[in-house]
Amino acid sequence: MPRRGILKLVYLLALVVCVSAVGDFDWTRNEKTSFYYGTFPTGFLWGVGSSAYQTEGAWNKDGKGMSIWDVFAHKKGKISSNETGDSSCDGYYKFKDDISLMKEMKLNHYRFSISWPRILPSGLKSEHINEKGIKYYNDLIDLLLDNTITPVVTLYHWDLPQVLQEKYGGWQNESMVSYFNDFGDLCFERFGNRVKHWITFNNPWSISVEGYETGEHAPGLKLRGTGAYKAAHHIIKAHAKVWHTYDRKWRSKQKGLIGISLTADWGEPVDMSNQRDIEAAERYIHFYLGWFATPLFHGDYPQVMKEYVGRKSGQQGLGASRLPVFSPQEKSYIRGTVDFLGLGHYTTRYITEKNYPSGFGDSYFADRDLAELVDPQWPDPGSEWLYSVPWGFRRLLNFVKSQYGNPMIYVTENGVSEKMLCTDLCDDWRMQYFREYINEMLKAIKDGVNVKGYTAWSLLDSFEWDEGFSERFGLYFVDFTNKDKPRYPKASVQFYKRIISSNGFPNQREVESWKRKAVETCSSSNQLLAADPLIGHMEMVTEIVVPTVCTLCILLSAVFFMFLLRRRL
Ligand code: BGC
Repeated sequence: MPRRGILKLVYLLALVVCVSAVGDFDWTRNEKTSFYYGTFPTGFLWGVGSSAYQTEGAWNKDGKGMSIWDVFAHKKGKISSNETGDSSCDGYYKFKDDISLMKEMKLNHYRFSISWPRILPSGLKSEHINEKGIKYYNDLIDLLLDNTITPVVTLYHWDLPQVLQEKYGGWQNESMVSYFNDFGDLCFERFGNRVKHWITFNNPWSISVEGYETGEHAPGLKLRGTGAYKAAHHIIKAHAKVWHTYDRKWRSKQKGLIGISLTADWGEPVDMSNQRDIEAAERYIHFYLGWFATPLFHGDYPQVMKEYVGRKSGQQGLGASRLPVFSPQEKSYIRGTVDFLGLGHYTTRYITEKNYPSGFGDSYFADRDLAELVDPQWPDPGSEWLYSVPWGFRRLLNFVKSQYGNPMIYVTENGVSEKMLCTDLCDDWRMQYFREYINEMLKAIKDGVNVKGYTAWSLLDSFEWDEGFSERFGLYFVDFTNKDKPRYPKASVQFYKRIISSNGFPNQREVESWKRKAVETCSSSNQLLAADPLIGHMEMVTEIVVPTVCTLCILLSAVFFMFLLRRRL
């Protein structure tokens, strides 16, 4: 065959491979079916998750530096009831107790994050390494391993060192890429002999949109229409750089895996027979998950994002798109930098097309030209945004399979909250949520999606970002009013334990008995908790009432004494 013919064939083959990698998602498949009884593949991993700022507390102890969340939470009006994560669950001091809880549940893995400023107070490796912070994570990892619980470690769960925010503008600045790489490298050096599962970033969508677009999260910047895209661009580059560092320097010695954890809702077209709704739903997912997944799997932003943001930027009279551009070298550097995809998922939206006119103002949200809707029938037990829509999970998993070449997936977050006022440990709605979402994941595995593990969010009630402690995602209830931060198991602990020990849902009779049994055990703990307000009241008596009464007595006696003295004179 002549050379040109061979070249043509190679080109054609490459094209076929590329096109088939971005397979079409079939919107009509995976119908909402009834409950599926069956078990997960042998070796499927079950775990729970947490993050440093949400649980550790000890915000200014043992040489830790400030993070953007420490500073943000201390500003009035940023967090519900002006709460902070200063002490939170005191996980820094209570990790031994928490590992006992995990052991009791027979978990395979525990996902936690490393606080960057706890080990590098100024953010920079070249300046100062805080050995006390390193010791804390060493002790945590060692104890997990002693208990045969695999540590799954997130490098960045939102707590950027404050110094890096102040000096450089945080993720708006490209210099974060190499600072983050130094931090990652240090973690591999100190912990990599024992940690085999690394997650670079947790939910970069939230970091970018809530941190730099809407400002609801730290650092609280409202750089509408540009801030989120810029932050995301640097985060993707930082992820790729750390992945390459691991690959080049540590992988052959340490034999671990390194991925990222992306969180995404599912978007379902309002009207499946309407092509414009289908396209709007596709845009919703590409602007959410695809924004990060497409560069990491295929080397560039989703075509639809480039088109929409580019067109809108043009209409706004800008010379270039607000969506940054990867150079050809960057594209090949970024492509394929995931050993596994971590997936966080909570909820679903219905999507329909909605045009935002160009005079509407720049924003990530307006760029998408769509509207999000919810079905009022969907249960929404806790957080305002979280509706329980289990079938969306199966669809999302199938979408990942079809778009990104069926990668290895670890579900890194899934769970449901309740409002603070609801102190019922018999959390029926959470058992229901886990039962159905985990079942949809099982169906997805039967569809051929490559899911290897599941992480329930979260082990404990914890600091829920701008919502403070008002929304509780924990399997364990934490009494934050008590100095000792005691943990009480909710019924879902027993329920999740049964799923783990059966590795799924063996048969109807058994599964139906689980909830009943779990509720029996939680009633007694409920009584314990009901006693707590009394304890709280007694504390109030000793801490406030007693000193006040004593002071009054002293004052009165003084007055009485003076009165007596006067009469005598
Ligand atoms: C975050 C968690 C948070 C959860 C619920 C996730 O995307 O990673 O830290 O608790 O959402 O809001």
